[in-house]
Amino acid sequence: MNNEMRGRVTRDGIRIYEPGDFAGMHAAGQVAARILDDIATHVFPGQTTGAIDDKITEMVEAAGAKSATIGYKGYQHASCISVNHVVCHGIPGSKTLKDGDILNIDVTVIVDGWFGDTSRMYVAGKLPRKAERLIQVTHDALFKGIEAVRPGNTFGDIGHAIQTYVEAHRMSVVRDFCGHGLGRVFHAPPNVLHYSRPDTGAVLEEGMFFTIEPMVNLGRPETKTLADGWTAVTRDKSLSAQFEHSVGVTADGVEIFTLSPAGKFHPTYT
Ligand code: MF3
Ligand code: CO
Ligand code: CO
Repeated sequence: MNNEMRGRVTRDGIRIYEPGDFAGMHAAGQVAARILDDIATHVFPGQTTGAIDDKITEMVEAAGAKSATIGYKGYQHASCISVNHVVCHGIPGSKTLKDGDILNIDVTVIVDGWFGDTSRMYVAGKLPRKAERLIQVTHDALFKGIEAVRPGNTFGDIGHAIQTYVEAHRMSVVRDFCGHGLGRVFHAPPNVLHYSRPDTGAVLEEGMFFTIEPMVNLGRPETKTLADGWTAVTRDKSLSAQFEHSVGVTADGVEIFTLSPAGKFHPTYT
């Protein structure tokens, strides 16, 4: 049995990684998180999303890592940059940021074969009040989900914790996109839903690696994908926010692989 074959897969198709694999995920997660720390100074009114992505491409290279998104299903950029009512998978380009725009920057890197996937919110210029509330609730909802991660809980418990929190604040959880298993691959089982009933779905076990990445809208949850095949927007044009961490289930809880080395995960705009 070679190294790649070690470990096991659950009846739900979820790979169980070994204790020694956490270090690889931590290293990859930290490279991605540091890039999100360092990109903050490049977000300002007048800047284009393409210029931000060019910086990220440089940073990935400088870290000796590989971008997981360049070449992924034909995608050609090192990040997704989703501005205002863009829910996710915004394509960096000639769009110029203006004062008060909010944006999610999502970076996935490969380090020694391990994937680190994380995203946060940023603002160009001054943060509008209603956007601040949306961003705070989305951030806190992610952590409600992370707090539900421990062996014996279910994936439904994670989704339920997120949904309950978001809806208590009269905002909505996007259904059309979810988190995902990752590790030595980018997207693997399970689908990590950000809405659910408690006690449903696969049972969490030590050694599972996955992302939690709730998208929250100020208006209704429905999305549509634009003709470019990637950009997902809110159907009602309401503002949308997202935060993402890559995590691993430990013997008694959770390890967050993509914590900000500078403590800047949120807020990144003060
Ligand atoms: N990083 C995204 C995620 O959280 C996936 C981006 S795929 C891309 O799963 F091709 F759009 F970059
Ligand atoms: Co992800
Ligand atoms: Co991501």
